[in-house]
Amino acid sequence: MDFFRIQGGHRLSGRITIEGAKNAALPLMAASLLTTGRVKLTNVGPLADIRNLGSLLGKLGVNVDFGSDDTISMTTVDESCLHAPYDMVKTMRASICVLGPMLARRGRAVISMPGGCAFGTRPIDLHLRGLAKLGAKIEMDGGDIIATADRLKGATVFLGGPNGSTVLGTANVLSAATLAEGRTVIESAACEPEIVDLANMLNRMGAKIRGAGSPRIVIDGVEALGGCEHRVMPDRIVAGTYAIAAAMTNGDIVIDDFPYDSLLAAINHLDEIGVHVSKVNPNDDDFRCSVRVSSNRVLKPTIITTQPHPGFPTDLQAQFMALLSIADGNSIITEKIYPERFLHVAELSRMGAQLYRQGSTVVVSGVRQLHGAPVMASDLRASASLILAGLAAHGETIVSRVYHLDRGYSSMEKVLNSLGARIERCKETKAEVAEDAVPAIIPSIRGAGLTARAAQEPEAKA
Ligand code: EPU
Repeated sequence: MDFFRIQGGHRLSGRITIEGAKNAALPLMAASLLTTGRVKLTNVGPLADIRNLGSLLGKLGVNVDFGSDDTISMTTVDESCLHAPYDMVKTMRASICVLGPMLARRGRAVISMPGGCAFGTRPIDLHLRGLAKLGAKIEMDGGDIIATADRLKGATVFLGGPNGSTVLGTANVLSAATLAEGRTVIESAACEPEIVDLANMLNRMGAKIRGAGSPRIVIDGVEALGGCEHRVMPDRIVAGTYAIAAAMTNGDIVIDDFPYDSLLAAINHLDEIGVHVSKVNPNDDDFRCSVRVSSNRVLKPTIITTQPHPGFPTDLQAQFMALLSIADGNSIITEKIYPERFLHVAELSRMGAQLYRQGSTVVVSGVRQLHGAPVMASDLRASASLILAGLAAHGETIVSRVYHLDRGYSSMEKVLNSLGARIERCKETKAEVAEDAVPAIIPSIRGAGLTARAAQEPEAKA
């Protein structure tokens, strides 16, 4: 297992380009199951999650060709395989996004029920209810979901849940409805930009979709879809993470391919905090533009509540917590999408952050300086927040288990080092790995805290 050794205190400057969005690419890849035509995606980062979904699609009869130039081409060659097994689904919860496309095209899909994840139970009831509304028969057997339908039939589907809509649930129902008979209306659809990207690609494949990006999406089903080529939208969470890296180091950087209009809530908060984010060329397209991010480290506190898009994204909550840890005053962060998504709190506290959690709210009392410490990554965005904290901290920070990070950021250490950071990727020795695996009650020379968390880590991922 790799870990990062970070020497903090180096100001970031320079220029970087944002990669394609993981959370857009995954449902786009799954949509290749809707056709036997070739689907070619460009601007796809070399991420662990992308490779994992590629392997699953391979198992489902799709020829997946990873190009050398950030492209993936997918062609379905065998539609007889219908089972997404547990050993593949458990490594990546987002595997659930093959359910809708496979059911719509093949009439049957058997998918292992994804488990919970590091930040909660993560149900999929809305996905299943939505597909059932389109006429699918849904059964459970031995931990598998078995969905069957001769041909799906258009219907009005309501996808609102206790914490808002569902992003991958919307992707599943939307993708399935493209091949259903008649009209489907999705009410309370997720408005996330990744859904717009999916609808744009499906329309390019011959689908008839209107309203993506709003809470009401209308889909007129078609008989068949064809192949297409599509450029994946830039990753708004990666973009936000690097903007915070600049803010936490007194930095001054330019970010190209910055998805400005997808990040308005975060930019608004950065502005309140005193971080300057401005378009380099005001006439650039807001979808993808160059921005300059700078800060003089006089950071003001703020109040953040995560919400479905266009509200503040949960996937930037941990990173903003790191930023607000060094603001001048008290901030309040409330998590409304995943009320348990706070594994980073204990780790940031080890670095000197003053954090007080009550249920789904954390009061962040800003300190002048964080201190380097050994900390453990526990999920993708928590890992990013620890690395940000390490950049600003005094001294050395060791972040272990960075495989979580590699799921969603390609070579983050190289990107940050190109801006002047000092991060070294190191391999854990066998002895260190074995030590991580010992039970929580056995004291560890590397710190009992680290060992205790290692024993608790769940397998299913975001
Ligand atoms: N929910 C239900 N029932 C469902 C589905 C969801 O109650 O059937 C609840 C969830 O428990 C949660 C809320 O609805 O409280 C939103 O969950 P959603 O279904 O939207 O999450 P997701 O589609 O599984 C995607 C991203 C997550 C991101 C969320 C929210 C992908 C691959 N994952 O997950 O990304 O946090 O939307 O924006 O697109 C990440 O990248 O780090 C990550 C976790």
